[in-house]
Amino acid sequence: MQQVTALKTVDAQRVQFPIPANVYAETVVSVKHYTDRLFSFRVTRPQAFRFRSGEFVMIGLPNAEKPVFRAYSIASPSWDDEIEFFSIKVPDGPLTSELQKIVPGDTLLLRQKSTGTLVLDALTPAKRLFMISTGTGIAPFASLVRDPETYEKFEDVILTHTCRDHAELAYGEELFDQSANDPLIGEMANGRLTLYSSTTREISQRMGRITRLMENGKLYSDLGIAPLNRETDRVMICGSMHMLHDVKALVEAAGFDEGSNNKPADFVVERAFVG
Ligand code: A2P
Repeated sequence: MQQVTALKTVDAQRVQFPIPANVYAETVVSVKHYTDRLFSFRVTRPQAFRFRSGEFVMIGLPNAEKPVFRAYSIASPSWDDEIEFFSIKVPDGPLTSELQKIVPGDTLLLRQKSTGTLVLDALTPAKRLFMISTGTGIAPFASLVRDPETYEKFEDVILTHTCRDHAELAYGEELFDQSANDPLIGEMANGRLTLYSSTTREISQRMGRITRLMENGKLYSDLGIAPLNRETDRVMICGSMHMLHDVKALVEAAGFDEGSNNKPADFVVERAFVG
């Protein structure tokens, strides 16, 4: 009798849940774990799925009648035939506790509509584009730095990425190397895309929160560039709630106005996915 019960339990776990309406069921192609807190993965892209670089989409797993969906920035550019995500792992996170276990061949659910404010359309024209990120907040910028339109609209693109330790910076460093060597983007990005990374909890070549490095001018002196200026610059910000608040205050103090899809202006913000 006991054996039968055990079998039933296993069967119950294998129950296939129906795919909800307006959701794509895609296949995981690859998974890469960077640290015990961060991983990235790529899934197949539905033919009909269109998005603008920098947007986010709701994703989930087919593991319940009503699956948990969370907003994820799409990290791949709009021309890519796969979709990439960069995620945090939260041990008790409603989605990431399971999502971190995915392997190639698994199914990922994707709501059909993407949206977001970290898009080129929400900014008015200027010379330089600053993309300020912490942690997984680099994801929408991973999409934008691989989009030719970014270089058509801006002469210089400065991507900043701040994490607790050096291992967490690896995704951004790989992104930068890949972009430089990419047949489509490499030539456009060459000499125009700059990655500026720093750590806050591990000793490294460059240390400090980006807010401090902007306030004390080290960001600009390290790169040998002019300080932030509304006349020439636009800013996109993505990170934790506190980081958004502080960087936003900093750029507003410099006279920048917040933009949106309906009313393009000087800077845009979006919260990075949290759990
Ligand atoms: P710190 O180590 O000083 O908290 P997290 O992984 O917790 O999301 O943090 C990612 C990075 O964002 C860390 O380097 C962290 O620095 C930094 N950070 C956290 N809060 C702020 C803030 N209010 N302004 C700027 N950077 C921040």
